[in-house]
Amino acid sequence: MTSSAQAQKSGAGTAHPEHLGRVVFIAASAAMGGFLFGYDSSVINGAVEAIRDRYDIGSAALAQVIAIALIGCAIGAATAGRVADRIGRIRVMQIAAVLFTVSAIGSALPFSLYDLAFWRVVGGIAIGMASVIGPAYIAEVAPPAYRGRLGSFQQAAIVIGIAVSQLVNWGILNAAGGDQRGEVLGLEAWQVMLGIMVVPAVLYGLLSFTIPESPRYLISVGKRERAREILEQVEGGKIDLDARVTEIETAMHSEEKSRFKDLLGGSFFFKPIVWVGIGLSVFQQFVGINVAFYYSATLWQSVGVDPADSFFYSFTTSIINIVGTVIAMLLVDRIGRRPLALIGSVGMVIGLALEAWAFSFDLVDGKLPATQGWVALIAAHMFVLFFALSWGVVVWVMLGEMFPNRIRAAALGVAAAAQWIANWAITASFPSLADWNLSTTYVIYTVFAALSIPFVLKFVKETKGKSLEEMG
Ligand code: GLC
Repeated sequence: MTSSAQAQKSGAGTAHPEHLGRVVFIAASAAMGGFLFGYDSSVINGAVEAIRDRYDIGSAALAQVIAIALIGCAIGAATAGRVADRIGRIRVMQIAAVLFTVSAIGSALPFSLYDLAFWRVVGGIAIGMASVIGPAYIAEVAPPAYRGRLGSFQQAAIVIGIAVSQLVNWGILNAAGGDQRGEVLGLEAWQVMLGIMVVPAVLYGLLSFTIPESPRYLISVGKRERAREILEQVEGGKIDLDARVTEIETAMHSEEKSRFKDLLGGSFFFKPIVWVGIGLSVFQQFVGINVAFYYSATLWQSVGVDPADSFFYSFTTSIINIVGTVIAMLLVDRIGRRPLALIGSVGMVIGLALEAWAFSFDLVDGKLPATQGWVALIAAHMFVLFFALSWGVVVWVMLGEMFPNRIRAAALGVAAAAQWIANWAITASFPSLADWNLSTTYVIYTVFAALSIPFVLKFVKETKGKSLEEMG
């Protein structure tokens, strides 16, 4: 019997409404890690000026302190998969929650600049872990028919985290009279911005105690009965649970044995699917999405926006990001992952090419001419919208589901680590590239967005509607 026939026999993918509520809660709790990922990676934007001032450092040193967290992210992502295969998915969430908590406290109350950098790396490790464990866990508990939508909770949580951090920073800054070093709650504003992350971090930790371990992980460590109980919670009692457990077990045994040790042996990297994952990750970053977030204030100012209003425009970018994500959530299980990615790539090429055109004009008093300024503003929003409704959601969903069970966590870890390194390469190189030639910088991102189209057409297989046992 083919696995899809088996899946039909066992009733895979047919969650009952009463179970759907539980599944939504489970996926949303796991996605709290995504919220912290978005929050933590963007919160620092509100604190940079204060850090520069307090430690009396130049732009280059400041950029290092910011970028160093991304190295932590790569380390966290690379190790999370391996740890999750040993001790389970939930325990990894708990470790990440502890790291988020101590990093929030440590970076709010640092003894020195090095201490601050250290705690930002610790926070980075937590972000990296959360970036792997969320998609893997959600894909493993979700019924196939809803897996795309539930998997996109992770990206939804990331974009909400970014937006909430902007709002909270804005609120704290206002409370401090507009000065990042002004006093709020007995501390300086920037310390409160970093420290307040303790709240979602502790909540993430608490929620992780209320959700069940992944049935696929349990089966992989021989806990068949417990896995059966959890499948009953998430997929309903009306399916043939024994057939379902056996199906997962059989698929696991028939998959080539390729656990994390194969990473070192080399055979892992000969698997084309691992490279497709790495490719998806790298393209997602090489279109320059985080330049739009990390450097948004600079962009708005060069198109003539008053610095005082740049918060407003950065926030509108976040709202567009959320709108695009909701569109993707509605479409990902209907039209599929590949068509969404392709639509997004086309939209991103147009948006980025328009930005490249607008920035090819000379700045007058640090600003673009009026028409080009408007084009740049609209094009930047269009780019974020198309990214959000495609690559933002599709990549995290696919990384969670596209790998065979046995290598899922390890392969996702490698792909996510590649993504963090690519993120670092783009954000660290942007200031120098922009100084050299902003228009050409956008041409480079346009080329990557264009290349993502043949990449998807040739290498990416549709995963919509398939059970995890059919992947690979
Ligand atoms: C995706 C990317 C992340 C980016 C975010 C923006 O999650 O992986 O790097 O910041 O989208 O919405």
